[in-house]
Amino acid sequence: MKSPFPSRTKKADQAGNGAAPDENGAVVEEPKPSRKEKLSGHKDLAVHHGGEAGKDVAGWVDSRTNATGIFTAMMSRHVPKGTNWFYTLGSATMFIFAMQAITGVILSMYYTPSATQAYASITHLTNDVFLGEFVRGLHKWGASLMIILIFLHMARTFFFGAYKYPRELNWVIGVVLLILTMVMGLTGYLLPFDQRSFWATIVANNITASGPVVGPYLADFLRAGPDFSATTLSRFYALHMLVVPGLIGGLIGAHLFLVVKLGTTAPPWVRAARPKGAQRSEAVVAGVAVADSDEVSVSSNGVVANGSVEAVAEEADQAKSKTEAPEAAAGPEVTEAESAPEEPEAPEEPEAPADDEETTS
Ligand code: HEM
Repeated sequence: MKSPFPSRTKKADQAGNGAAPDENGAVVEEPKPSRKEKLSGHKDLAVHHGGEAGKDVAGWVDSRTNATGIFTAMMSRHVPKGTNWFYTLGSATMFIFAMQAITGVILSMYYTPSATQAYASITHLTNDVFLGEFVRGLHKWGASLMIILIFLHMARTFFFGAYKYPRELNWVIGVVLLILTMVMGLTGYLLPFDQRSFWATIVANNITASGPVVGPYLADFLRAGPDFSATTLSRFYALHMLVVPGLIGGLIGAHLFLVVKLGTTAPPWVRAARPKGAQRSEAVVAGVAVADSDEVSVSSNGVVANGSVEAVAEEADQAKSKTEAPEAAAGPEVTEAESAPEEPEAPEEPEAPADDEETTS
């Protein structure tokens, strides 16, 4: 892709103004860029014009990271026909996650993760710090909103059949994201360390302990021991601040990578339409050919190109008509029993003359 930033030569880079001085201090005309330099496009550095320093820095970073290319690949994707507002739910969830991260960092600047000081630090933040109550409110309501959005997004992907091949892995990553988001809710709830959060967390921990097989171990791990103590708060704090957000961030990266790689699923009412030329319903199911043909070109997002669908449909038709008996194709339908191959007959043995019959020679 062509970079939006103009290129500059190494000499111009040294001079900083597009021309290099010689040993006498005289400014020498910048040599014309070679064809190779012109073609290398975004790999070259941007020309420095006074007052365009910002552009220059952006060009410098872009030439080393291909940020423009990556950004374009992420944002300028082809989306299926019928894409609608329901497709924004994943991005909305991601936006709330980013908001939670930002407000959480601000809250952590005032919060003290100690059993004796946690409550006091939160009270101070709420009552005395400028916009403290607002930021805390954003974080608290954001947590609920994220849970609501994640469920709505999951429902969208479920009802649109986006969990099917080739996106199963993205569904599994999504399930882990859902669990981690709920763990964020659980671990964050204890942090104010007031009466409500204390007793609610004890109840949640007891419920966890009642789980089969791993339940008691998981509850012990969360409590940081057999009893609910000050260490429990430290453990919840570490999980809430570092471990779980880190995992969520990494998994969102993997989730988006797969979304970009595989593309998004078309709405079911768009996919259900029979592709042009496909005659038999068994040849094409939901836009993907089921006829097991090696020649089928399935694009990376799992959708068979229209031309291929037609080819597969025709191929399937031909294959089917070949297997059918020619008269059956014209006449009434042949049942399975009728069309089943007959048992091979034993070779005819010469009949032994009957004793009671006279033979004539
Ligand atoms: C932190 C939580 C999550 C974030 C930030 C997130 C983000 C996204 C984004 C931005 C997209 C692409 C646009 C869209 O279809 O909305 C997407 C697609 C997808 N997500 Fe999520 N997601 C999350 C959780 C989940 C969960 C819980 C599931 C299911 C269990 C899930 C399953 C999927 C699937 C299957 C796709 C592909 C959709 C398609 O092909 O049409 N995601 N996600």
